[in-house]
Amino acid sequence: MPEHNGLEALKQEAAIRACALVHSGMRVGLGTGSTAKYAIEELGRRVQAGELTGIVGVATSEASDTLARSVGLAVEALDPRPLDIAIDGADEIDSQLNLIKGLGGALLREKLTEVQARQLVIVADHTKTVTHLGQKAPLPIEIARFGFLSTIERLRGLLPGGRLRQPGAQPYVTDNGNYIYDAQLPAQFDPAQLERQLKGTLGVVETGFFLGMATHAFVAAPDGVTERIRPPS
Ligand code: A5P
Repeated sequence: MPEHNGLEALKQEAAIRACALVHSGMRVGLGTGSTAKYAIEELGRRVQAGELTGIVGVATSEASDTLARSVGLAVEALDPRPLDIAIDGADEIDSQLNLIKGLGGALLREKLTEVQARQLVIVADHTKTVTHLGQKAPLPIEIARFGFLSTIERLRGLLPGGRLRQPGAQPYVTDNGNYIYDAQLPAQFDPAQLERQLKGTLGVVETGFFLGMATHAFVAAPDGVTERIRPPS
């Protein structure tokens, strides 16, 4: 049962629902963030209770790796084998289950891991749903540190509004040793086209667009959890 009030309880409810899709013997991608955390804790609880056996987790960040081990999950590095399922949060979810991710900074490892998952299950509270991507959140773009000011100049040619993520005196550094440029998205754009342009920009390592990847979403609202399944393309 959820142990929190308000938004935290909703996140936990969504995560617990998603974990019901995990069965013994599965290889599971472990997401990153304040919602994915509840999924890792629930999987740990079920393993400790003997409800799940033979589960192997593949973590999308150092933080999730540490949390998973602390709750008793076996964790392995990503290798070329497919994952049965991955469970992760998102910063925005549109009606087609296209996503923006990476406000927590783990976008590169998340994308590398989740592209190998047969099912990518998103867990979120209702504040994450949008009618179009960029409505509420910036688009995180991971960029190489070397020459980052030049990369930002190039990015400003495509997306003029944005800034280097810098919570304090120094820029934020990802688990991969890179920086993040948080870009404001225009009111109207084609996400697939913009993704191609960004990936073709020198110095860009990865973007926070997760397009056509999520298969399910569990979205928790005060009146209950809704399961959404990606519509056929
Ligand atoms: C991590 O880089 C992100 O992609 C998170 O998964 C995403 O920001 C959602 O995090 P919260 O569940 O903390 O909002």
